Amino acid sequence: MTYSESVAAAPPGAAEFGRSDLERLPADVFERLLEGVPGDERRLLEAGDEAAVRRVVRALFWGLVYHLRPERWDELSRVEPIHPAVLEALPADGARVLEVAAGSGRLTVELAPRARSLIAIEPAGPLREILRERLPDIAVLDATADDLPVAAGWADLTVSCASLGPDPRALRELERCTRPGGTLALVSPVDPGWFEAHGWRRLSFDPKEVAIPPHDPSLEAFFGPLDPPHELLLKAH
Ligand SMILES: C[S@@+](CC[C@H](N)C(=O)[O-])C[C@H]1O[C@@H](n2cnc3c(N)ncnc32)[C@H](O)[C@@H]1O
Repeated sequence: MTYSESVAAAPPGAAEFGRSDLERLPADVFERLLEGVPGDERRLLEAGDEAAVRRVVRALFWGLVYHLRPERWDELSRVEPIHPAVLEALPADGARVLEVAAGSGRLTVELAPRARSLIAIEPAGPLREILRERLPDIAVLDATADDLPVAAGWADLTVSCASLGPDPRALRELERCTRPGGTLALVSPVDPGWFEAHGWRRLSFDPKEVAIPPHDPSLEAFFGPLDPPHELLLKAH
């Protein structure tokens, strides 16, 4: 997604964030999140341009939520469960599973009882804390998808949910960590059509079949309409 697409796609809750929230982000996190912001826009931001602050806050909405309102993300992920047919189609039983971008564990809790061994990767510290509390017995590592601290060929199944898109560096890393004959799986990735056009098998299920738990309507006022993950892109390695 381009910078201007991220600005346009920000959920309504972006209006609750402002300059002081950008300043509350840890410096290294702020720098990483700013990587997708064009140079001209960064200069306007540094000069204190109000319109630029508003656009940057919108573009960084999800990073702001993961770092400053992690409990809000966790709440959303619990009321948007993954379609059961997606979970069933994942070859996780008895497998060594590598999950990338695990968040607070929406998919991880489903994988943990099925996998022989499970490594979860998550770069946002506040989400890792929730995940570690929820699943104290699994390995939860701080890393990004383009540089995974996992041995080549370790995983039978490498999977990510609602996180990755067609980023060549990340996809190379997922492949490197997966054993020959293993499986790469992306649940509702960004731009699923790209994966389908590049030889991945696409399974789509009806999101209306997902049982949405009762929840506070303020959640949708903040995040917009619910969209439970309901697609699976698979590739044999
Ligand atoms: C929409 S959340 C999905 C979390 C979890 N997979 C789930 O389905 O509940 C996106 C996640 O991707 C993580 N993330 C963002 N950029 C990343 C990157 N470059 N590498 C790995 N994870 C990343 C975020 O910290 C966040 O946890």
